[in-house]
Amino acid sequence: GAPVDVNVAKLSPGQMVTVAWRGQPIYVVHRTPKMIESLPSLDSQLLDPDSKVQSQQPKFADNFYRSRKEPFLVVVGICTHLGCAPTYRPEVAPKDLGPDWIGGFFCPCHGSKYDLAGRVYKSMPAPLNLLVPDYIFASEDLIRIG
Ligand code: FES
Repeated sequence: GAPVDVNVAKLSPGQMVTVAWRGQPIYVVHRTPKMIESLPSLDSQLLDPDSKVQSQQPKFADNFYRSRKEPFLVVVGICTHLGCAPTYRPEVAPKDLGPDWIGGFFCPCHGSKYDLAGRVYKSMPAPLNLLVPDYIFASEDLIRIG
């Protein structure tokens, strides 16, 4: 399939946009500095914090923020359990997810939780982190997926 371009110039910090690529939803999130700062502290609560279990990402995402540029997360929006679409839940301590929730992705089908780098928490039905597709920054604000 052809690559898909996403212009993130107008994507505000905290916002997510979904685009289709090869029939799959791709989530692009502009993370805030606060969201980025939270990531390393979560490692002990995650199933596979360094994404080592199997290939879940290209080499360039082998860092604590799992992306090419710290603010921008690019993941395939398909739960690694049975393929539902996780919802983006950036808010802290929402009523339905509890006081410990600091933002991430929540799969409504069987309750898998992922952090803001798409890393799955321990003891969830989902066995892997959300996949990071191949992409580049074609220019300062233009992400080219595929
Ligand atoms: Fe997401 Fe089952 S499909 S938890």
